[in-house]
Amino acid sequence: MKQICIPGTTLQVSRLSFGTGSLHHLPSLARRRALLQAALEAGFTHFDTSPYYGFGLGELALGSLPAASRQRMTVATKVGLYGPNGSRAWAVDVYARKFLGKLLPSLNRAVVDWSLARARATFDDSLRRLKRESVDLLLLHEPVAAFIRTSEWLQWLQSLQHNGRIRHWGVAGEPGLVVAVRLHAEALAPVIQVRDSLQRHEADVALNLPGTDSRPMQLTYGYLAAQSGAARGGVLAEQCLLTALGRNATGSVLVSTRRIERIAGLAKVAAG
Ligand SMILES: NC(=O)c1ccc[n+]([C@@H]2O[C@H](COP(=O)([O-])OP(=O)(O)OC[C@H]3O[C@@H](n4cnc5c(N)ncnc54)[C@H](OP(=O)(O)O)[C@@H]3O)[C@@H](O)[C@H]2O)c1
Repeated sequence: MKQICIPGTTLQVSRLSFGTGSLHHLPSLARRRALLQAALEAGFTHFDTSPYYGFGLGELALGSLPAASRQRMTVATKVGLYGPNGSRAWAVDVYARKFLGKLLPSLNRAVVDWSLARARATFDDSLRRLKRESVDLLLLHEPVAAFIRTSEWLQWLQSLQHNGRIRHWGVAGEPGLVVAVRLHAEALAPVIQVRDSLQRHEADVALNLPGTDSRPMQLTYGYLAAQSGAARGGVLAEQCLLTALGRNATGSVLVSTRRIERIAGLAKVAAG
């Protein structure tokens, strides 16, 4: 697969990145691991995760890959959004909450916590689950600018970078949230991962703030999710991604599937 250097960073990543937001829908670790390994073999080298995804199961699956595989990938994880019971990553707990949460949503609701103490502790947990000393990218997950003490956070992120525990940091989420961070704390957003679609071009709002130079696209997601069921099927999905790669010509487009048989077709879209 073609590779690209994310603008403004030293991050060399595959043009399509693999998202682990729905990985926990696969019922066994063996199947989650097989899907990730297939993505790696097909040419995806950048993997996006979060302690919120499967309340830790996404990170655990990445950490369960053989060391040789882990060394071939770059990884982004996140802080700020957590599972209702922390990120214990016990499959039974996760599935019980996801199932019962349909009846009682509070069991399954994300916990938003912008305290630095929580971020410090959960980042250590993330590294343990990922079986890594460091990650390539640490993102503030759906950041709420009004709750974030910018100078404290900046100091922490700089110290992580200085100590070699992260290579880069940034923000990830909906365009409106990214805009607010950029207006109030631009230093927290050297990397921007933002929702986009072919229909509405939402990312433009976050990248082109009036009175500032427009930012090149870095990481964008949501293109297939924005399509209706029929428009998403098979070849159409691949055409959609091809157009998405044209739109995000400078960075990497995140995509996810739970179906191993779809991986080769997706990867082919960005073949070198
Ligand atoms: N705040 C954030 O930073 C944030 C927010 C949202 C997402 N993300 C990241 O971005 C990743 C991707 O986001 P996403 O899941 O919204 O986006 P997506 O990749 O645009 O859409 C995924 C959907 O497309 C379907 N699909 C995949 N390949 C297909 C194919 N060949 N034919 C038909 N349908 C296909 C998948 O179904 P199947 O699984 O059945 O294939 C799934 O329903 C996430 O996993 C996560 O890592 C980040």
